[in-house]
Amino acid sequence: MADIAKSKIVIVGGSSGMGLALTRRCLDSGANVTIVGRSEEKLKRASNALQNPPNLSAIAADIAREDQVAGLFERIGQLDHIVSTAADIEGAYELLPAVDLKAAQRVVESKFYGPLLLAKHGAPRLLANGSITFTSGIAAYRPAARGSVVAAVNAALEGLVRALAVELAPIRVNAVSPGWVDTPIWSFVAGDRKEETLDAMAKRLPVGRVGQPEDIADAIAFLMGNGFTTGTILHVEGGHRLI
Ligand SMILES: NC(=O)c1ccc[n+]([C@@H]2O[C@H](COP(=O)([O-])OP(=O)(O)OC[C@H]3O[C@@H](n4cnc5c(N)ncnc54)[C@H](OP(=O)(O)O)[C@@H]3O)[C@@H](O)[C@H]2O)c1
Repeated sequence: MADIAKSKIVIVGGSSGMGLALTRRCLDSGANVTIVGRSEEKLKRASNALQNPPNLSAIAADIAREDQVAGLFERIGQLDHIVSTAADIEGAYELLPAVDLKAAQRVVESKFYGPLLLAKHGAPRLLANGSITFTSGIAAYRPAARGSVVAAVNAALEGLVRALAVELAPIRVNAVSPGWVDTPIWSFVAGDRKEETLDAMAKRLPVGRVGQPEDIADAIAFLMGNGFTTGTILHVEGGHRLI
């Protein structure tokens, strides 16, 4: 992680789950981190959990709103790395007859248009050896019933990553594709069956467990720090694509 020490990093989604784990890791290495999310309250809770160090700041913004994304980068100025782990999947896991277009729209906004806007407004502020890292997911490869919208949006995001890696070069653009990871997002996917759902998957996976947010933070840190990696989808899923 020596490569990202002292760098300036924006982590959209840094108030929860994988983004929060990454924020902790980057702060520990000495980086200057701005966490971004829509909810002021979640940002405050995360900052408190991280003990409000001087190298942490928080900005409330919705990455689906172009004016807010533009304003975010105006405030931040020049920087080294942009990461997004953002996803709004509330109400999006449904069988086809129950698919709600508004919920589907929020998935597209948080996981496709949001990243597109982050690249549009953030890339001009990035140093030439900087990077952008987005978050796809196993649903693109092992779709389950109820997961069609998320599967499709993850696949679209991966196409965007490859195109941006070419257009924005020498800035590097990558994505991590997590498998099932124990984070708050599971309350939207499995409700009160979260624990039994994750336990059942843990038994099936070659590694014998589901992921922890730190597993994904580790992979994103690699993508940020490795200067020879771009246009890559890094799968961190405990062997899920093999079962
Ligand atoms: N957990 C898993 O098993 C799993 C598996 C495969 C892929 N993934 C993907 O991994 C990523 C991280 O997931 P996670 O489990 O860490 O999720 P999480 O705990 O629910 O965190 C999501 C974060 O995104 C922020 N966010 C959502 N919509 C936003 C928007 N429009 N603008 C700005 N911030 C927004 C949330 O804050 P606010 O609500 O305050 O905006 C929150 O900080 C997601 O892209 C998810 O699809 C997760």
